Amino acid sequence: MEHMESVKIQPIEAREVRAALERAAAQTEMNLPVYDGHCQNHSSVNGVYPVCENTQWTCGFWPGEIWLAYELTGKEKFKIAALKLTDSFAERIEKKIEVDHHDMGFLYSPSCVAAYKLTESETGKKAAILAADQLISRFQKKGSFIQAWGAMDDPSCYRYIIDCLLNLPLLYWAGEVTGKAEYADIAHQHITTCLKNSFRPDGSTYHTFYMNPDGTPSHGATCQGYRDDSFWARGQAWGVYGSILSYRYTKNPEYLDTFRKALAFYQTRLPQDLVPYWDMIFTQGSDEPRDSSSAAIVACGLLEAVKYLKGEEQKSCMELARRMVGSLVRSYTPASVSKGAGQILHGTYSKKSPYNTCTPEGVDEYTSWGDYFYMEALTRLDRDWELYW
Ligand code: GLY
Repeated sequence: MEHMESVKIQPIEAREVRAALERAAAQTEMNLPVYDGHCQNHSSVNGVYPVCENTQWTCGFWPGEIWLAYELTGKEKFKIAALKLTDSFAERIEKKIEVDHHDMGFLYSPSCVAAYKLTESETGKKAAILAADQLISRFQKKGSFIQAWGAMDDPSCYRYIIDCLLNLPLLYWAGEVTGKAEYADIAHQHITTCLKNSFRPDGSTYHTFYMNPDGTPSHGATCQGYRDDSFWARGQAWGVYGSILSYRYTKNPEYLDTFRKALAFYQTRLPQDLVPYWDMIFTQGSDEPRDSSSAAIVACGLLEAVKYLKGEEQKSCMELARRMVGSLVRSYTPASVSKGAGQILHGTYSKKSPYNTCTPEGVDEYTSWGDYFYMEALTRLDRDWELYW
């Protein structure tokens, strides 16, 4: 099997981790004046991130990178830049600017929860709680799921997506800081629905799942994957990392089981360098683009899981994470840092296929979340790290 041959990639060593992290912080520092008070576009265009206003679902990743660089270096300029963005995120949620969707965790965990955890920012705390409130306002009682996009009373929008697993930690955090049980309860109801419908028996996943207006499950489909029945790489990666994050907060053994199944499937479709094609229907030898961000996300999931696993399983997850990150560091980083550039090359946001419904953008480019999770994976390998999630 292909993944058996991937032993050729050697695990990353501690000194390589530190060097890669220092370089990532240098890239972040170089970009500070370029995006001052603004965000990076979801993905680069010809290798450079356009500046964008704080309106996209991906805007939390740039402050997340800045916080990780701050934690590494202790440089005040990172803290100042990240706190300026905290104000921008507070304004966004207070004025409800482009928040009518479920991506509140992607937006507010690496920005405002991080600001609160690292600096006790009350602005960050308040904004993140408001974001959690916004997220639970999208809960559909009939069907027990958090609706991804669109009007809550439009039956054609009655669906959730696997990505939402990464929005749930914001709810666990909000429950902890406010003492209100409702947040974790909704997270629990959503993940129960997700586990029932979105994971196929072989451990692969549907990107999106439609529900009927009466609350019964309808069907799985894709938006950004190749086909409804294929294996969108990032959806699978969200499944791996998202399930273990929910395990972290709940210790529900079903979530650990889901992590194992999703990871096992993911491994069967990997090319030799451990960085998947954008949809895992494509395997070794394909000339389709890769999605490096999926490798970074899965590495973070593995590094979270090693905290709970034991013996051989723990050892093999750690080794796999070190090999995945080794592959990214050695073969997916640009030759040098430069203004407006990102951290890892060859990410894919949305590639059009004859069968999917996405708008094509960010194909074979840097992706803001790929860069963030790459830095998170390196940070996790470098030291004990308190999560922003
Ligand atoms: N959450 C959307 C994506 O992963 O592209």
